[in-house]
Amino acid sequence: MPASGPTHLADLAELGLDEGGHLLVARSLARLAPGERLTVTGRHPALRVHLAAWCREHGHRLADGDAPGAGDGATALLVVKGGADERRWLGAVRAGDAAGAPEARADQAWGLAARGALVEAGGPPIGAQWSQREHVWADIAPRLYAAAAASQWDPATAVDWAAPLGAVPEEVERAVVQIMTYLVENEQAALIIPARLLSQLHPHYREVMQLLATQAADEARHVEVFTRRALLSGGPLGTSSAGGRASLQTLLAEPDFTTASFLLSVLGEGTFLDLLHFIHDHAPDPVTADVTRLAVRDEARHVAFGVAHTAHLARADKSYLAALRASVERRHATLLDTAGLNAEVFDSLVLLAAGSWSPAALRRGWHLVRDLQERMDEGRRRRLAYIGFPDDEAAELSALHTRNFM
Ligand SMILES: [Fe+2]
Ligand SMILES: [Fe+2]
Repeated sequence: MPASGPTHLADLAELGLDEGGHLLVARSLARLAPGERLTVTGRHPALRVHLAAWCREHGHRLADGDAPGAGDGATALLVVKGGADERRWLGAVRAGDAAGAPEARADQAWGLAARGALVEAGGPPIGAQWSQREHVWADIAPRLYAAAAASQWDPATAVDWAAPLGAVPEEVERAVVQIMTYLVENEQAALIIPARLLSQLHPHYREVMQLLATQAADEARHVEVFTRRALLSGGPLGTSSAGGRASLQTLLAEPDFTTASFLLSVLGEGTFLDLLHFIHDHAPDPVTADVTRLAVRDEARHVAFGVAHTAHLARADKSYLAALRASVERRHATLLDTAGLNAEVFDSLVLLAAGSWSPAALRRGWHLVRDLQERMDEGRRRRLAYIGFPDDEAAELSALHTRNFM
């Protein structure tokens, strides 16, 4: 089509402007520069009235009278293109690159726009608390999200709820119920924290947003299966200690994305990996074995992101190790006057591993729980060293971790 002169033509035939005809007019005008002219022809009886209104709305001018070129009962009208479309997109910017890596800083003005979209100026800002890549990112996040999406399981079918509890002694069953009661309150904290981080994250970092959403969904299933296992023998549930809840409350109050992820996922969920393996290995019934086996698979992803993200930030900014250290010390100081772990949970773990009340079995159970605590400590030190702490500092920080495990 030539670039000038009134020879540009959009023929609507019988089509009304109010039934899709505006698309043909807009498409033809999009190829013109402001001031160029378009002849619109058509046979719809209201074409002139509708086109006049449409032009006013979109900043174009409809010339008076008929344009030449009509015939055969058709109307021909002349539209002079205005500059509103061009002005509208004048200040527009791309919100990064959809297929590429996210930007180091996400503009609040991009709002909810998709990564890579052309963003019209003037929309509401997103007001996200975390809008810098280094503060939320890990290179493994896209792969972890894909793995999480592929690994979602259905609590109704993944666990054989009809499997008989069989010969589980009554007091061992009470121990299982106490442990499950404790697990549920920990899982609830572990659900709320990623949900809170997610709500304050700039959506430009969409893989992290997606990963946190799957993490919250994982925890929702853990809350469900541990509750169902606790109720399997008819209830009631066990106890919830003030010290245990105080320990979890400090996690909810942690204001920073990375320190929250560090305390929850690296130290807390990292410790829980060993705890869930322990309960699985000493499970007195198939349902307890199933629910802990399923949960520990999910937890491994949560720990992997926490470790990868914290290491990512600590490598970009070595001084950040001091902030991580301070977060552990602060939490330890806050919890100094609390008992930490619910004593009934500790005793239940001993009884679970013992399997009976004979003194020899209880000694074995007690030593197994002590070994578990050593494994938990080793795991924490290993992860702290990976993040960048020297071995002696890693040992110190691991020792300051809450007695509540999470
Ligand atoms: Fe969990
Ligand atoms: Fe988790």
